[in-house]
Amino acid sequence: MTKYQNILVTGGAGFIGTNFVRYVITEHPDVKLTVLDKLTYAGNAENLADLPDDRVTLIVGDINDAQLVDKLMRETDAVVHFAAESHNDNSLTDPSPFMQTNLMGTFTLIEAARRYDVRFHHVSTDEVYGDLPLDETSRNEKFTPLSRYNPSSPYSATKAGSDLLVRAWVRSFGLKATISNTSNNYGPYQHIEKFIPRQITNIMSGIKPKIYGNGRNIRDWIHVTDHVAGIWEILMHGTIGETYLLGANGEQDNLTVLKKILQAMGKPVDDFEFVKDRAGHDLRYAIDATRTQETLNWQPKYLDFDAGLKQTIDWYQQNQAWWEKDKAKIEANYAKNRQ
Ligand code: NAD
Ligand code: DAU
Repeated sequence: MTKYQNILVTGGAGFIGTNFVRYVITEHPDVKLTVLDKLTYAGNAENLADLPDDRVTLIVGDINDAQLVDKLMRETDAVVHFAAESHNDNSLTDPSPFMQTNLMGTFTLIEAARRYDVRFHHVSTDEVYGDLPLDETSRNEKFTPLSRYNPSSPYSATKAGSDLLVRAWVRSFGLKATISNTSNNYGPYQHIEKFIPRQITNIMSGIKPKIYGNGRNIRDWIHVTDHVAGIWEILMHGTIGETYLLGANGEQDNLTVLKKILQAMGKPVDDFEFVKDRAGHDLRYAIDATRTQETLNWQPKYLDFDAGLKQTIDWYQQNQAWWEKDKAKIEANYAKNRQ
């Protein structure tokens, strides 16, 4: 029998939350999930619509709603907390929802979790550690659980703050929490504001892909299925108070990734444009997941990035109706906010 039978998943209608819900429903038949999601522009109820009603319940609501959170927490054995404002570019245009959801929302949840002594897993990002240099001599440097917190953007600063809240609640109140910090995810259901789906759907819409700055910034890609499998393992077997880094040694610079997308979609590899750089743009992320792999039974399985990318392109091609209605609005926002 699975250790936790009733799990509350915040942000379960977003990209990673959806993949987590779908993973648990397939892999762990005795578990029931309640999804608490505000359905912001990034959440989509359709993502969960085909799942069995007796195992997945969607509650449309805000993690800042203390009364609702209290009620749900009473009925829950464990929480996996994905809900967040997640896009760096948006945080540069208007940081306020990031403060509200990422900081205050996490506060509301951990207060309720400690009240009812509920197991809590906090999903976070490698961006809390800031960035690594790009020069070749620093290539062996990677983030570890001991890396210094040094966030660059309003988004990553609020995620860093939320991690520190969780750590303090563990120490001061005995909250039964773990934290995971993970690198850039890719795969199905990712919002089209993000780099990989934005470029795939640009190409499908006859819009030139856009590269910020010189395109040399490096991201450490992990397939979303590997991420959610790692979260499950931490929830079941992680040590309370620990921070776990999840990564798949997937470092690539943005230009290389874009050229792979163009090639896979049958376009000339130079058919894109350079645009203004992101303010404060982090140079390089790289995760050292050794400690997680030594202490838990988790290994990334999607080690062929090109195959995972091809599968992701196929998904956006086969699910045009899922993203098409948002495309014009997202591109209009980019045009307005990145002048
Ligand atoms: P996303 O933007 O796709 O989804 C976020 C979800 O949270 C949406 O469904 C949205 O409706 C919901 N939400 C937002 N504010 C809410 C609120 N106040 N109350 C309830 N629900 C709310 O994000 P994602 O990419 O799936 O990221 C999920 C989590 O994983 C975030 O905490 C993010 O920081 C973290 N993370 C993301 C990545 C990545 O590469 N995408 C990597 C590491 C960690
Ligand atoms: O590292 C984990 C983080 O990865 C998560 O915490 C964030 O929630 C997630 O959004 C992601 O952050 P990034 O800022 O790295 O992801 P994004 O997809 O926005 O951009 C990836 C890289 O591509 C980054 O260097 C900026 C660049 N970029 C992005 C867009 C949208 C472009 O060159 N062109 C674009 O159009």
